[in-house]
Amino acid sequence: MKTLTVALPGREYDILIQRGLLSQAGERIRAALPRARKLAVVTDSHVEPLYGKTVLDSLAASGFEARLFSVPAGEASKNPSQLAQLWEDFMDFGLTRTDAVAALGGGVVGDLAGFAAATILRGVPFVQIPTTLLAQVDSSVGGKVAIDLKAGKNLAGAFYQPKLVLMDPEVLNTLALPQFMDGMSEVIKYGCIWDAGFFDFLTARPSKPELMADIERILYTCCDIKRQVVMEDELDTGLRMILNFGHTLGHAYELAGRYTQWSHGEAVAAGMCAAAKLGAALGVTPGDVPGRIEAALGALGQVTGLSCSMEEYAAAIGLDKKGAGADITLILLDKIGHAVPHTLPKAELLRLLESFHNVL
Ligand SMILES: NC(=O)c1ccc[n+]([C@@H]2O[C@H](COP(=O)([O-])OP(=O)(O)OC[C@H]3O[C@@H](n4cnc5c(N)ncnc54)[C@H](O)[C@@H]3O)[C@@H](O)[C@H]2O)c1
Ligand SMILES: [Zn+2]
Repeated sequence: MKTLTVALPGREYDILIQRGLLSQAGERIRAALPRARKLAVVTDSHVEPLYGKTVLDSLAASGFEARLFSVPAGEASKNPSQLAQLWEDFMDFGLTRTDAVAALGGGVVGDLAGFAAATILRGVPFVQIPTTLLAQVDSSVGGKVAIDLKAGKNLAGAFYQPKLVLMDPEVLNTLALPQFMDGMSEVIKYGCIWDAGFFDFLTARPSKPELMADIERILYTCCDIKRQVVMEDELDTGLRMILNFGHTLGHAYELAGRYTQWSHGEAVAAGMCAAAKLGAALGVTPGDVPGRIEAALGALGQVTGLSCSMEEYAAAIGLDKKGAGADITLILLDKIGHAVPHTLPKAELLRLLESFHNVL
């Protein structure tokens, strides 16, 4: 068992990583929440048939009255009416403030169930059981929970830390390869911004089987990095922005593809390659770095370059025709393993992007 503690004063919690942990969910949650009687387990239509029974059986064996609440798989479930439905379901189930909500699924389930837990009865204890690589290395740690609005993604939400995060690496065996590789974009991001040794470790394992052979170490390293960043900047006012490496330009690609053409991981992969090239052009990033990141992602079959129109880049960085909000802070690398914020005029950023031929 690998254990990490997110030591936020008054809101401390453990992240447990172990193969087969799903079938010990009951005893682990019992130890963290001795007073809880009922457990509302939110999951989705893909995960429920795979892992719902294992988790429910384990919870029942530890004396919980547990019930599954399944939402349709996919981002569309992160919406206000699905949230309201969960509130009603929890009340019908008779949930009280000493009971708890668990999220069994990917980032969609984690964000939705977490926001439901944060808001029902003004907050009930919450447990994350992430089942995608992205959820394990990113969304289940750090306490950001949210739903999407028509105006954009994650616009209604909260900072709400879980009481426990249970990670069973074996669930990744059933995860489709594209979804696994989506998570790998974030994994490689951690190497880029924080740990050069980890970056090299990853580049030496360019396939899912090779990565799965060392998956505990990979999950542990990513969660340890996110844990340190979150402990220093829980509310995202400073250091936490280094986690956005590749995300500003990635957002432009997601927007240009109307959120359907490119997955988040693909857009972030291309965004990291573009950010590395930008950094090199600005004299911040050493010249060999863009090629090394492209090679790491390319070896996994990841996207290493996308393009979009100048209008879409401008929209994604919030530059209107009057040039309002003239500066932007990008996260760049001054070497593999270290990120630095870099502020430049938005107009200059657009000019550089144009010169890279990443423009339609
Ligand atoms: N809160 C945060 O800090 C944070 C950070 C990053 C992303 N997010 C959010 O996370 C969401 C994306 O998460 P995601 O990539 O996990 O997507 P997801 O939750 O939609 O899961 C992807 C797909 O995999 C399926 N699935 C999940 N686990 C599986 C398993 N073990 N085997 C087989 N199939 C499985 C799901 O049913 C779904 O179809 C987005 O909504 C994003 O906004 C949140
Ligand atoms: Zn991301």
